[in-house]
Amino acid sequence: MDAAAVRWLASPEGWSALHELPPYDPAGELALQSALRGAGHSPEQAAALLLQSRLRSRARGKFGEFADGMLFTADGLEQATRLEVAAQHAQRYASASLATVHDLGCGIGSDAMALSVLGVTVAAVDADEVTAKVADTNLRPWPDSRARHGRAEQVDLPADPGRDRVGVWLDPARRIPGVADIGGRTRRVFRLAEISPSWDFVLDVAARVPATGVKLSPSFAHADIPDGAEAQWVSFDGDLVECVVWFGALAQSVGRSALLVSSGSAGPVRVDESMCGEVKPPLGSVSGLGRWLYEPDRAVSRAGLVGAVTALTGGAELGPGAGYVTAEKGVEVPFARRYVVTEAMPFNVKALRTWLRDRGITGVTIKKRGVQVEEDRLRRDLRITRKAGSGAQTTIVLTRVAGQQIVLVVDPS
Ligand SMILES: C[S@@+](CC[C@H](N)C(=O)[O-])C[C@H]1O[C@@H](n2cnc3c(N)ncnc32)[C@H](O)[C@@H]1O
Repeated sequence: MDAAAVRWLASPEGWSALHELPPYDPAGELALQSALRGAGHSPEQAAALLLQSRLRSRARGKFGEFADGMLFTADGLEQATRLEVAAQHAQRYASASLATVHDLGCGIGSDAMALSVLGVTVAAVDADEVTAKVADTNLRPWPDSRARHGRAEQVDLPADPGRDRVGVWLDPARRIPGVADIGGRTRRVFRLAEISPSWDFVLDVAARVPATGVKLSPSFAHADIPDGAEAQWVSFDGDLVECVVWFGALAQSVGRSALLVSSGSAGPVRVDESMCGEVKPPLGSVSGLGRWLYEPDRAVSRAGLVGAVTALTGGAELGPGAGYVTAEKGVEVPFARRYVVTEAMPFNVKALRTWLRDRGITGVTIKKRGVQVEEDRLRRDLRITRKAGSGAQTTIVLTRVAGQQIVLVVDPS
């Protein structure tokens, strides 16, 4: 899709054609294309309408019904922050009473929209012309917020951002435009040194505009957290999605934190270093296993905040870095799943297969941390399927205690 196609889609004619499209049906693409051609649309217009129809249906997972009022590019949709998470970013700027935010690399404008909803004016740029035009269209409900084609490095930032109540948001690209992976999607980069705009540029911006936030990969290393900043790992419905580094007034606490965002009505749950008690050594032997097992949310483990679970439960980590906590006490922990441990045994495939067969168990949920086991292979070896119709079901946890691989049989509670 080129800039002319986006301009047409954003025009009154294109916009009303978009709204008249039937619900997306992959099997009906050809028929729709010829109907659009029959209605007098050019091949480029018909292709742009079809693309939007396809992307809007895909976007509903991230944007719900808002997708119907937005334009997308395939790459832009993949990289866009989902609605619920963007709302959390925006809340930081609104709570810090910022009036204007420069979004330096705005993509299709998901974060910029969330900021605008909260009354913050956004001045956005994107290095890709089509993407910038899409973002500008998505920002139309908020006329003060605009996106333009330009490079982050060329944006003039205010000399006195504190007086002007100005902040900066960056969500650097972690993909290489024009280079596809084997699945045909834009290839991802994983190293901090490869993001665009660069990490050095981000640090320079944060030095000039203290109220800066930057979204990074969840693999961001603890050692790279800048002095005085907050690095927050975020999960959405239990999936680890990002790490955001907050500088200046946007940092709610210095160091590491985790935020659990969910699609349900429950508000987000925040965990930070102040909630971690004294660091206890991990379990010395299997004999120290308690009645309960806690599985911290991935954002909590990645942020290195399992200590908040041991502090609440009085328990200990099973193995160093494994992330599971064992305890005698069964308490509700809003950032960990809780299980009752019904059996513990050394990990031995043959013994486990016999154990499961003797109990008529034909369906197993397998959880593992800290062990190198390939799940499909293990299922084959255990002769057990994922879902097993009428037979009994159970959950097993493969992990390590004091260097020994063990299996815990657990019941969610
Ligand atoms: C991850 S996306 C932003 C997604 C956005 N936060 C959202 O939720 O929709 C990163 C964007 O940065 C843009 N970009 C990369 N390098 C840039 C640069 N030096 N200046 C401006 N934009 C840049 C890319 O074109 C891409 O659209």
